[in-house]
Amino acid sequence: MARKINNTKVSAPEKVEAAKKCDKAVDAEIKPDRQLKLLFVASECQPFVATGGLGDVMGSLPHTIKKVCDNCDVRVMLPLYGDIKQEYREQMTFLGYTNVELAWRNQYCGVFELVKDGVTYYFLDNEYYFKREGQYGYFDDGERYAFFSKAILSVLPLIGFIPTIIHANDWQTALVPVYLKTIFHDEYYRNIRTVFTIHNIAYQGKYDPAILGDVFGLGEQSRSILCYDGIINLMKGAIVCCDVLSTVSPTYAEEIKTPEYSYGLHYIIKQNAYKLKGVINGIDTKFYDPSSDESIFVKYDKNSVEGKIQNKIQLQQMLSLPVDRNIPVVSIITRLVDHKGIDLIIQSIDELMKNHLQLIILGKGDLRYEEILKNFESRYPNKIRAIIAFNQDLSRKIYAASDIYLMPSKSEPCGLAQMIASRYGAIPITRETGGLNDSIVDFGTGHGNGWTFKNYSARDFIYVVRNAVEVFHNHKEAWNDLRNIVFSVDFSWEKSAGEYLKIYHSLM
Ligand code: GLC
Repeated sequence: MARKINNTKVSAPEKVEAAKKCDKAVDAEIKPDRQLKLLFVASECQPFVATGGLGDVMGSLPHTIKKVCDNCDVRVMLPLYGDIKQEYREQMTFLGYTNVELAWRNQYCGVFELVKDGVTYYFLDNEYYFKREGQYGYFDDGERYAFFSKAILSVLPLIGFIPTIIHANDWQTALVPVYLKTIFHDEYYRNIRTVFTIHNIAYQGKYDPAILGDVFGLGEQSRSILCYDGIINLMKGAIVCCDVLSTVSPTYAEEIKTPEYSYGLHYIIKQNAYKLKGVINGIDTKFYDPSSDESIFVKYDKNSVEGKIQNKIQLQQMLSLPVDRNIPVVSIITRLVDHKGIDLIIQSIDELMKNHLQLIILGKGDLRYEEILKNFESRYPNKIRAIIAFNQDLSRKIYAASDIYLMPSKSEPCGLAQMIASRYGAIPITRETGGLNDSIVDFGTGHGNGWTFKNYSARDFIYVVRNAVEVFHNHKEAWNDLRNIVFSVDFSWEKSAGEYLKIYHSLM
């Protein structure tokens, strides 16, 4: 059975290939099988491109699903950003191109494919939108990701794939469930179900209501889907249109129903709570493994902690801090933004500096935080390093060198750093919120794996850090036992991948 590929312009040999693939897909549609065909869509994915936790999750969840469900067909779609490395580009195959209409625009969209660990990755190419430095922060981000979302659905016939489920993530792909409900009425798309995951409700994709038609290409009849509080809110649109709404920890799933955590979306979250699930993230324990990590100074594991101490010594040398194996290295690796609790850290630094410790901060973000932290470094040159950068290589060196890892977040949908720190044998100190609450339990309970505090208060935070530093200096044996516990916690993805599989199957 031949199928017309709407809007698709491909060159001759590619056209034949695409048509063949398309026929296969239509056959699959006619004879539905029970195979789960999953398409993850997101604006970032390790190891190709990542600026934060979303990239980590996209880099590990799809291939864990494939690992635990061999029969599943797992694919991922990403923009082909200008800064994706040549080494990956060389592994890509060009599949063809189509034209994507977005309001009055008609834009080229090339499709490249790369297969890795049993997962197929597609990179959607449009140089005007994506051949830029970095990923976000451009005046036309709304248009760029509207294009990406529309392109995701538009290229499916070209690659001959009808997913059972499209799993979209955060505001950048929020328009996928919306377009599927409002524009893509063709039979080809009829049976596709959607899961939408909120990785951070603070970033919603808010735009002027005037651009609904002109940029997002939607008619007036769709206004009520996207509008919220008088403006266009892409995340709200996805919340309404998706079949299952999820977020990255059970505690955060409860928190976002309240005004304190919802950034204004609690009404709509509560209305849609019947389809809301909270599934905690895991980490890729191979990607983050001190026994094989090429970035760190000396490889080690929990049975060779002398290696960890060597990492501390070499990092102290590298950062020109006093070299001392007996001083605890306390670290923070984060985006310097409000919800990470940077103000709590700033309020606490003078008090913390009264203790015998070294504080290493790595991150970038709000200019005022960058400046304040740099200032602290000049006030305490022998105790503080504030490195204003996003540097994955250095972050691994810091995890490996650290004794204590701080995460006093005001809100934290899941948080991965507490898990990565644990993997590298740094004891986490976390605030009991979101995924931190679901992953780190206070040692005081008798079955803990870190130190925690509840109130967002500098006093409570300082109290726990002081206590940890005291144990480090004065109770060596207890310290080693606690570190061993932390080292042994299993934060791998397998269990949570099983939870996601249950969700996907419930939609089939
Ligand atoms: C966002 C959240 C973080 C979460 C990550 C992955 O970056 O802020 O808490 O771990 O997404 O889901």
